Amino acid sequence: MAIRHQTLAIGLDFGTTNTTVASFGRPIPLGETGSVLLPSALAFLPSGTTVIGEPARMRRAIDPPNTLLSIKRVIGAPPSSSVAKSFIATMPYFVGDIHQDELSFRTRGGAFRASEIAKMIIAHAFALADVSPLSVSVLVVGVPTSYTPERKQVLLNALQSLGFAKVHLIEEPVLTAVAYVGRSSVRRALVFDFGGGTFDVAVIDGTLHPFRVLAQGGDPYLGGNDIDLALAMRLREQLLRATGWDLGSNPVVLDRLVHEVEQAKMQLAYEESTLIQGTDLDPAAPISVGAISLDRATLAEVACPFVMRALQITEEVLEQARVTPREIDAIFLSGGSTRLAVLRESLVQRFGKRPRHDVDPACTVAIGASLLAARPELLQAFVGSPS
Ligand SMILES: Nc1ncnc2c1ncn2[C@@H]1O[C@H](COP(=O)(O)OP(=O)(O)OP(=O)(O)O)[C@@H](O)[C@H]1O
Ligand SMILES: [Mg+2]
Repeated sequence: MAIRHQTLAIGLDFGTTNTTVASFGRPIPLGETGSVLLPSALAFLPSGTTVIGEPARMRRAIDPPNTLLSIKRVIGAPPSSSVAKSFIATMPYFVGDIHQDELSFRTRGGAFRASEIAKMIIAHAFALADVSPLSVSVLVVGVPTSYTPERKQVLLNALQSLGFAKVHLIEEPVLTAVAYVGRSSVRRALVFDFGGGTFDVAVIDGTLHPFRVLAQGGDPYLGGNDIDLALAMRLREQLLRATGWDLGSNPVVLDRLVHEVEQAKMQLAYEESTLIQGTDLDPAAPISVGAISLDRATLAEVACPFVMRALQITEEVLEQARVTPREIDAIFLSGGSTRLAVLRESLVQRFGKRPRHDVDPACTVAIGASLLAARPELLQAFVGSPS
């Protein structure tokens, strides 16, 4: 669908894991595959080419320092900040030393600030969506509640330099609530956003217009990635015990295992059990390695501690908001990891009601952002002054 040259109200979710673009409440397919999710990954290849999305993500184990992932965590973060320090400690990057105001990376493609990498990924997403920044009348973009005003300004500058004239940054739980609230009226709602790398939770008062956030919280290092790693470690140990073969001794093979485990985890939303071919992961593995089976019960067991941690944070936020679980009359799910059956069941147990998932959880932030972009009067109520 060619929608270039129209004047559009657009919503953008530049996620830690995936980037989504939406217009008038609908996610826009990004490229030929028809997928609405673009992995937020960029890689500088030895050939001099830059790749973005899935081909970049696949290079994380082959060429770590030149494969930039999870950049959202450090946009606008000075190298001396605790956010930047913990990122550097866990990611395999060479840090640039030119800029003191924002973390930068030395790659084979040159040195880039975090916001410059973000810009390249966002520009690519819009090119795939066939939407020119110049045709966008209003862009609403989700931001984590943890972003400081300085970091928001860095993101805003980056977006404006891409050619977007009118940009508004709105906190992600608000956008998720916008995506759901229009569909029904609620008194007290819980926004439960469990994505790839971050967990966010907020209590919403829906009796006011527009609704108000009573309390919010989260953990910037809690998400589906943790579940993938824990599952991969579980299967690795299981195989080591059974066959003596270690899929973890080669980092490229281990990364393949993590990737395949993630695919299997997603398949378990539809199937009781699934198989991962050990010899496909590691061509050097003996034939005895065979197929590794993964079922829902194992996934539930491995995911359980992470879900419990999210529920514990939720209790704290409810307490801050002075709202009891019984008073919550709707739970709005957001983030790809909320497709986990064990997570939904735990929410049913705790709140005595089924969480809402009538909006695609991987796209709620972009959908809410696009709905707000299309309604100037509602948008004004959330932004105060236009930027
Ligand atoms: N069916 C599924 N079952 C379990 N997890 C899933 C499923 N589908 C997607 N996920 C997980 O959802 C995560 C990605 O979610 P999402 O795209 O919402 O993240 P994000 O918004 O980019 O990240 P964040 O909110 O942390 O910044 C991945 O960890 C992925 O494995
Ligand atoms: Mg998200």
